[in-house]
Amino acid sequence: MGIDPLRGVAKEMKFMTGNIRQLLGSGHPMLDTVAKYYTQSEGKYIRPMLVLLMSQATSAIPRSNTTFSSLDRRRESTIDDPIAPSSVLADTNPLAENSYDSDPHDPSVLPSQRRLAEITELIHTASLLHDDVIDTSTSRRGNPSANQTFGNKMAVLAGDFLLGRASVALARLRDPEVTELLATVIANLVEGEFMQLKNTALDEKRPVWSEETVTYYLQKTYLKSASLISKSCRAAALLGGHGSEVVEAAYQYGKNLGLAFQLVDDMLDYTVSGVELGKPAGADLELGLATAPLLFAWREQPELGTLVGRKFGGDGDVSRARSLVLQSDGIEQTRALAQDYVDKAARAIASFPDSDAKRGLIDMCSKVMSRRK
Ligand code: FPP
Ligand code: MG
Ligand code: MG
Repeated sequence: MGIDPLRGVAKEMKFMTGNIRQLLGSGHPMLDTVAKYYTQSEGKYIRPMLVLLMSQATSAIPRSNTTFSSLDRRRESTIDDPIAPSSVLADTNPLAENSYDSDPHDPSVLPSQRRLAEITELIHTASLLHDDVIDTSTSRRGNPSANQTFGNKMAVLAGDFLLGRASVALARLRDPEVTELLATVIANLVEGEFMQLKNTALDEKRPVWSEETVTYYLQKTYLKSASLISKSCRAAALLGGHGSEVVEAAYQYGKNLGLAFQLVDDMLDYTVSGVELGKPAGADLELGLATAPLLFAWREQPELGTLVGRKFGGDGDVSRARSLVLQSDGIEQTRALAQDYVDKAARAIASFPDSDAKRGLIDMCSKVMSRRK
């Protein structure tokens, strides 16, 4: 059996979960509980893992810019910066500059890159808190969802709190380009969710399949899922002081992997049980959503158009649509498109020097394709 290329990042990941919980501390006991709720169950931590791997994989490439983030400089100096402004809850504000768990870390990851990894997970978890409210979802990561447990109001507010803490941590990186990238991600998440809510490429009264329906779906998929992954990979390379070639390669890797990730997610919604997924299966049709497997099936089965137009809201629509999709090659076409994207992701970083981390990034491509949850 080969050596696991992800072993180099495993130690980093162990400290990350503790650091994330530290970033989420609030003096209000209930807010503290709700904000940390999704950090209790085993997440996949795909986004922070990609940031760490990208940081390691690019660390051996000569840097074009040696002006590091002030956080990284501070790490090397003895200056004791003041912590965040005092407030009622100041004693629980975890954003003091020296708040990293200071176990011996891999020197190929800069402190700012480590914090970026944590920020990506905070933004992702905030989006899940909001998403479960919007989707009226009852479970997440094998447990009752936050909205189910604490109600919509607290779930939404906890999501906002996570975004607040992520924003403070981002500002503390003192890197305007990285701040702009991650702030854009937050806007993109909302734009993607809006595109999903109201499909402007579709005439609901006369829904006909066209290439435009797939283009719209892919654009939405980029905004909803691939934006966070691609822009955080880009930010990792920027924090590493790299020039445009490396930065663009990191971005292309993240963009293509992110698109594949969501295509597989949309496929699993049809093929895997809720128990295995740890969240409701078959949810997309129930929510009126036409994702890739259905869009590909629709091209062959025009009768799906009527169902799409009424968002699968008629009697028996959901099961009719499901069986038409399963009879078609919609699932297979979705898998093939996801495979094209992961192949592109791997090609984007082909020129990176050989390392465990590069092998880890390539390994993530096959893991995305073979995952069942
Ligand atoms: C999961 O999708 C949800 C997302 C990838 C993004 C959701 C974004 C928002 C709710 C916009 C607001 C967010 C912020 C941070 C301001 P899904 O419902 O298809 O997947 P699921 O099966 O995991 O629920
Ligand atoms: Mg959802
Ligand atoms: Mg959703």
